[in-house]
Amino acid sequence: MNSVPVVRKARLNSAFKRLMSIHWLMAACYLVLFVTGSGMARLTRGTPFRSELYDFHKSMGALVVALLTWRILVLLQVWWRKYTKHLPKFTPEWQRKFFLHTLLYLFMFAVPVSGFFFSNSYRSNNVRLFGLTLPDLFPQNSDLVDLGRSIHFWIAYIFLVFIILHTLQQWKVVRANWRRFQCFVMNWKQSKSI
Ligand code: HEM
Ligand code: HEM
Repeated sequence: MNSVPVVRKARLNSAFKRLMSIHWLMAACYLVLFVTGSGMARLTRGTPFRSELYDFHKSMGALVVALLTWRILVLLQVWWRKYTKHLPKFTPEWQRKFFLHTLLYLFMFAVPVSGFFFSNSYRSNNVRLFGLTLPDLFPQNSDLVDLGRSIHFWIAYIFLVFIILHTLQQWKVVRANWRRFQCFVMNWKQSKSI
């Protein structure tokens, strides 16, 4: 008999697995963005590879916007499969998670847009996706450069605070997965030694 509980079975559906694959891919991109962003902002003009680092950061920023679009489409697919069968139980735990995930999505959108605002205000045709010049989302306006820098700075670091909160909220899940993985490795080793 299949012993996988129904709830876990639903979680293992292919759309949810795809959503989590994009989740980890994007989490790796955000790590790169935070490291490059905070590093390059502290470099003085004339430092070798400074402008290449800026270009790389902007390219990664544009890439996560594309990944976000894909993620939202997969999320809609997960919701469709899940909530057309039964509505969620609106427990306080569910509401907390929903609220935090919604905020994370808003930041995933707002942080790169603020990066575009900052870069386009400084100079037009200033954002390239690994060499391909992207159209401007905002007009060039040197009066708004400092405002753009401030907005990008603040919302990027507030986003980081929410990522940390989310990581703490998911810690139990991560620990349980880690234990499951350790059991898997132990069983595999035992089966090899027989
Ligand atoms: C780096 C930035 C991160 C962002 C923006 C983020 C955002 C999200 C969002 C919005 C979801 C809901 C599912 C979805 O729509 O994709 C989610 C789920 C999840 N996240 Fe993250 N996450 C990040 C990093 C992490 C990290 C570092 C961990 C590890 C502790 C983690 C663990 C999880 C887990 C286990 C789930 C599944 C929750 C569930 O079972 O419903 N996330 N994350
Ligand atoms: C989710 C995506 C992004 C994240 C998490 C992110 C994060 C950051 C962080 C943490 C900094 C350092 C701020 C500081 O300490 O002063 C930074 C700087 C910067 N970011 Fe982003 N960024 C993202 C997307 C973008 C995009 C799409 C662009 C442009 C199109 C961009 C352009 C810049 C620029 C030009 C700086 C340098 C600021 C300075 O010189 O003061 N970023 N970013």
